[in-house]
Amino acid sequence: PPTLQIEGESSGLGRMDCRAKGGSPGFKVAVLGAAGGIGQPLAMLMKINPLVSVLHLYDVVNTPGVTADISHMDTNAVVRGFLGQQQLEDALTGMDIVIIPAGVPRKPGMTRDDLFNINAGIVKTLCEGIAKCCPKAIVNLISNPVNSTVPIAAEVFKKVGTYDPKRLLGVTMLDVVRANTFVAEVLGLDPREVDVPVVGGHAGVTILPLLSQVKPSCSLTPTEIDYLTDRIQNGGTEVVEAKAGAGSATLSMAYAAAKFADACLRGLRGDASVIECAYVASTVTELPFFASKVRLGRAGIEEIYSLGPLNEYERAGLEKAKKELAGSIQKGVSFVRK
Ligand code: NAD
Ligand code: LMR
Repeated sequence: PPTLQIEGESSGLGRMDCRAKGGSPGFKVAVLGAAGGIGQPLAMLMKINPLVSVLHLYDVVNTPGVTADISHMDTNAVVRGFLGQQQLEDALTGMDIVIIPAGVPRKPGMTRDDLFNINAGIVKTLCEGIAKCCPKAIVNLISNPVNSTVPIAAEVFKKVGTYDPKRLLGVTMLDVVRANTFVAEVLGLDPREVDVPVVGGHAGVTILPLLSQVKPSCSLTPTEIDYLTDRIQNGGTEVVEAKAGAGSATLSMAYAAAKFADACLRGLRGDASVIECAYVASTVTELPFFASKVRLGRAGIEEIYSLGPLNEYERAGLEKAKKELAGSIQKGVSFVRK
């Protein structure tokens, strides 16, 4: 593919890049898979984030157009595009956060695990690049199956000796976004006021909404709990079926990923009490990876919260979730160790 180095000042007449170098604090963010269904709207949302000073857009196709387009937005971040494997290292060098939505999405009838064969290799290659070029970056991993791709990333980093479990986060924010939306709908509330912890992982029964811990506190009927649990666990499939072969959630995912990256950026800036759910290396259960609420700070994950009191329904859900998760984690680990 042709080489590409598109920046904000594409005319070449721009004076020295005072935005990236000057007074305003900002972080350097790379999106890998930036020309995709999630990547494009996510890149747009990161371009309007005032905490971002430099935005690198990497993909194996179409980054020239996406970069040229987004670089015309009159916001602070300087945008640069990178195309193809030979530009991966330039895309990654110096990055504070790397967001990865690279890989194939589901079609109707598929599970997320059906994506493993293609996406595992993609994630492995990208993480090898991160280990080499920006080993201290915080990684937000979106590519499915997240339950396995996060263990893959961890194994790649361990092999090279750069693994820091505080800096590797599987993005489960879309499950929280959906849960907040669906619970608010049932309760007749504004979704922005609702907070539903969603723990476990990111596939089917591993997505475990803790409806007994909804804030503001509320009482849901058993029928509402069944309906909500099922809808939250199958929210991804609802979109896959509605898109009828044209992919999976992209716009709500870009929103969720941008919200999650913003939380990571606020943590890096040193803001207090930045707490979100994420799928991380964990001792909350006997499994090596588990999603729960985490506090984000300058080092990445600074605290991992336990699950809190679960009711019987949730305890049963937890057992199911752990069983499936164990297999998905093992599959990811074996892929790299084999
Ligand atoms: P898409 O096909 O629209 O875009 C994927 C992009 O990745 C494409 O532009 C493609 O060129 C690029 N790509 C492929 N191989 C690459 C490589 N080696 N390096 C860099 N880029 C590469 O798919 P999408 O809808 O954007 O979904 C992307 C992934 O995100 C899928 O695996 C999907 O299942 C997953 N996803 C996760 C969540 C979540 O909640 N974590 C939500 C939605 C989708
Ligand atoms: C989602 O939850 O929307 C994503 O994981 C995509 C999918 O395959 O469902």
